[in-house]
Amino acid sequence: MTETQKSATLTLNGENYELPIFSPTAGPDVVDIRKLYAQAGVFTYDPGFTSTASCDSTITYIDGDKGELLHRGYPIDQLASKSHYLEVCYLLLYGELPTAAQLEDFETRVTRHTMVHEQMHNFFRGFRRDAHPMATLVGVVGAMSAFYHDSLDVTDPWQREVAAVRLIAKLPTIAAMAYKYSIGQPFVYPRNDLDYAANFLHMCFSVPAEEYHVNPILSRAMDRILTLHADHEQNASTSTVRLASSSGANPFACIAAGIACLWGPAHGGANQACLEMLKEIGTVDRIPEYIARAKDKNDPFRLMGFGHRVYKNTDPRATVLKQSADEVLELLGVDDNPLLQVAKELEQTALNDPYFIEKKLFPNVDFYSGIILEAMGFPTSMFTPIFALSRTVGWISQWKEMIADPQNKIGRPRQLYLGETMRDYIDIEQR
Ligand code: SDX
Repeated sequence: MTETQKSATLTLNGENYELPIFSPTAGPDVVDIRKLYAQAGVFTYDPGFTSTASCDSTITYIDGDKGELLHRGYPIDQLASKSHYLEVCYLLLYGELPTAAQLEDFETRVTRHTMVHEQMHNFFRGFRRDAHPMATLVGVVGAMSAFYHDSLDVTDPWQREVAAVRLIAKLPTIAAMAYKYSIGQPFVYPRNDLDYAANFLHMCFSVPAEEYHVNPILSRAMDRILTLHADHEQNASTSTVRLASSSGANPFACIAAGIACLWGPAHGGANQACLEMLKEIGTVDRIPEYIARAKDKNDPFRLMGFGHRVYKNTDPRATVLKQSADEVLELLGVDDNPLLQVAKELEQTALNDPYFIEKKLFPNVDFYSGIILEAMGFPTSMFTPIFALSRTVGWISQWKEMIADPQNKIGRPRQLYLGETMRDYIDIEQR
């Protein structure tokens, strides 16, 4: 953390407290309250951490008002159109775009780690066939710490590097295995002659009985989905990974914690929840009923795939994904799919409705990713596992940054206690 000359004065109970202010390279200044409790005996209060910087970071920056998303300074729309997922992984992990030689070495290292220990196949057979693939993912990724003992020591930079590459390489294999298990088809091994996205599609959709050729437009769309979901500042699941890591837990356990958090419908589970909402709406003529429900304060219903905690005008990822959605739908000729008709009509209705304009609710990344994955033939239960395999590089990059930070210490938020003050135990006869 840099030194600073700026400060804020807090006046409390007649005392003045000088709180240092730090200025970022982009975004709002931060008021350093680390010594506040020791000096003034008070906590700050910020449920949901909407006004709290939990760390300093150099990886990703979001400007919610401008709808900007930068990875190590590079805008997401440029990365989505000019780069590809593994190159973005390198950028997130190491801070700079790779040279051709560095990229080739990184891609080779990832490719050589895509297989999982053969005994891990047994874990899947312990799950019911109808288990949600996210349940399988949480379980099997956490169990990686039972297999890869030579990459558990977070104090060893080499072991951190190996764990990072193993997780990026093996998550697609594990996610594809979870899918194959859920549909009763045999696991498909990764292939070293396919690129990352094509390999994942091949592991999901090929069967031993016949040749499967990956459509380059679909693998490009999949690579774009992975690129657009790779990292996103200190969102709920990334904050979960950081908090789990702050206790010194091994990387596989921390990523399993991130997967568990991402599962929620308000977060990464939104793409599945969005498609299930579209299925519930069913036909275009029922859209007004659901728009009315979304506006009704007494109705907990929310339009899944709309709105964002940080973006207040547009989600730049959604803008890029909308182009991919149009390409994939045209390629697959699913323009007449009733579900996708409802999606297109809902998008237009919400974008032109004064309520949604005023509340700054617009389609987010999950709205379009769900549409593309549906068109590709994935069941909705596989949408969030795909988000998780993409976000693994973001979690791991943030994890590496935190572990290497000399300020790193166990996270321990406080509380505003509103419970009972001390009282004596009452024997059951007197209750
Ligand atoms: C992701 O944090 C990240 O970066 C997450 C993520 C990432 O990459 O990691 O971007 C991925 O999680 C994207 C968001 C996916 N979630 C959904 O699509 C679920 C549906 N959206 C919502 O649940 C909601 O929009 C949130 C949770 C995303 C944001 O909720 P907030 O912070 O409450 O939104 P807000 O403060 O901007 O809400 C403003 C108003 C509120 O009404 P009032 O209290 O002002 O009356 O709009 C309402 C909200 O109730 N509102 C919605 C709505 N989202 C917010 N009303 C109807 N439908 C919605 N989807």
